[in-house]
Amino acid sequence: MTIPRKGRFAMLSAAVAGVVVAASVAVTGSAEAATTLGASAAQTGRYFGAATSAFKLSDTPYMTILNREFTSLVPENDMKWDATEPQQGRFTYTNGDRLVSHAQSRGMTVRGHALLWHAQQPAWAQSLSGAALRSAAINHVTQVATHFRGKIHSWDVVNEAFADGGSGGRRDSNLQRTGNDWIEAAFRAARAADPGARLCYNDYNTDGINAKSTGIYNMVRDFKARGVPIDCVGLQSHLGTTLDSTYQQNIQRFADLGVDVQITELDVQQGGNQAGIFAAVTRACLAVARCTGITVWGVRDSDSWRTGQNPLLFDANGNKKAAYTAVLDALNAGGPTTPSSPPPSSPPPSPAPGGCTAALTLNSWNGGYTATVRVTAGTSAVSGWSVGVAVPAGGAVTNTWNATNTGASGQVTFRNVGYNGQIAAGGSTEFGFQGTGTGPAATPACTAA
Ligand code: G3I
Repeated sequence: MTIPRKGRFAMLSAAVAGVVVAASVAVTGSAEAATTLGASAAQTGRYFGAATSAFKLSDTPYMTILNREFTSLVPENDMKWDATEPQQGRFTYTNGDRLVSHAQSRGMTVRGHALLWHAQQPAWAQSLSGAALRSAAINHVTQVATHFRGKIHSWDVVNEAFADGGSGGRRDSNLQRTGNDWIEAAFRAARAADPGARLCYNDYNTDGINAKSTGIYNMVRDFKARGVPIDCVGLQSHLGTTLDSTYQQNIQRFADLGVDVQITELDVQQGGNQAGIFAAVTRACLAVARCTGITVWGVRDSDSWRTGQNPLLFDANGNKKAAYTAVLDALNAGGPTTPSSPPPSSPPPSPAPGGCTAALTLNSWNGGYTATVRVTAGTSAVSGWSVGVAVPAGGAVTNTWNATNTGASGQVTFRNVGYNGQIAAGGSTEFGFQGTGTGPAATPACTAA
């Protein structure tokens, strides 16, 4: 990154483990409340991870927390280009391997970070340009993804390629100067090298609907339309003292494109409502079925890259902060479970022939519910859709998002809005609504326009 380590924050706007070894569950009252971040997130089908480094593996107080609380880890620096290919064609995987092996021994999943980035490039790559750089970059993706093949839940294939400010366009960099198609070339190479890893685009200052996140949204939509392999978007979420009011809406619109969303580098400046912002981010992720996990960018405040801002969940002594409790409580309050999104190498489900289908997921409480409805196109693309839902007697729809409704009780019809009417063959989108009373029980009927 071209911005100095300490100066950079000023520019910022402010896999579920197969075995959750560290999970401990306490029984409070009649409901089970998990007592660690990882166990609690796992109850909604999500992972809760932390950025770490191989040099921390010998820090016992630190590792006690990492092993107890987290079900996923991501190397903060150990898998970056400068770390893995310090000289061209000479690869060093020792630290990355140590982290992967630790994760495997604890039943944690691993996020890979990051195959290509304009920052933290080795000197030899910084001195290349044009076709030589393109070919070195693609070789790097192929070699590194092949080395870790089968061990990575999600790869940040490309990191921070969009510009800040209002342009919504790409950031200038040596990689960008090799041609606008460098990002899709990287994703294709990563898929070929490790077909089982979810492939993510990751960026910061994307913590709401703004020009930069919209630029990324348009790229993802284009990739999905053209079959460029992309499975997820990482929203870094290095946050200041406020949270954009469109934070959840932004997650939702990416999910509606048919990609998973992951909160990848969460940290929040202390001094404002730190606990409240951490909790709000957690709730926003839980509210979107395709938001599949949260990673905090470090464990203790003293481990953070944001020196002096104390932006994490544990203090320097490893004590849980108010922000920790706020996140745990938010996780325990739950949300819709994530759809079981299989790794990309699994055969995709066969699309329903023609038309569309709708599947409804409920998050109910005494007297009300929120419903998430996934609309999936059949073997042909649809250019508009409507979904009929039978709302049980005595209840009514009070609020709808990503659709409009006709009627609020009895038989209610939901129609697409402008931006989600078109669904590619086999693709899907989601809308939701909130209601009073008991949630709908019958499978909704979908009609393609
Ligand atoms: O390891 C060397 C050490 O040998 C040397 O003595 C020391 C002298 O400065 O530097 C050490 O390397 C530092 C490295 O962190 C490990 O601590 C680098 O200088 C320093 O630049 C590097 O900072 C990392 C930064 O990315 C690089 O841009 C931070 O730890 C890391 O948290 C940060 O992470 C990024 C994500 O990758 C992408 N998103 C933003 C995020 C925060 O900037």
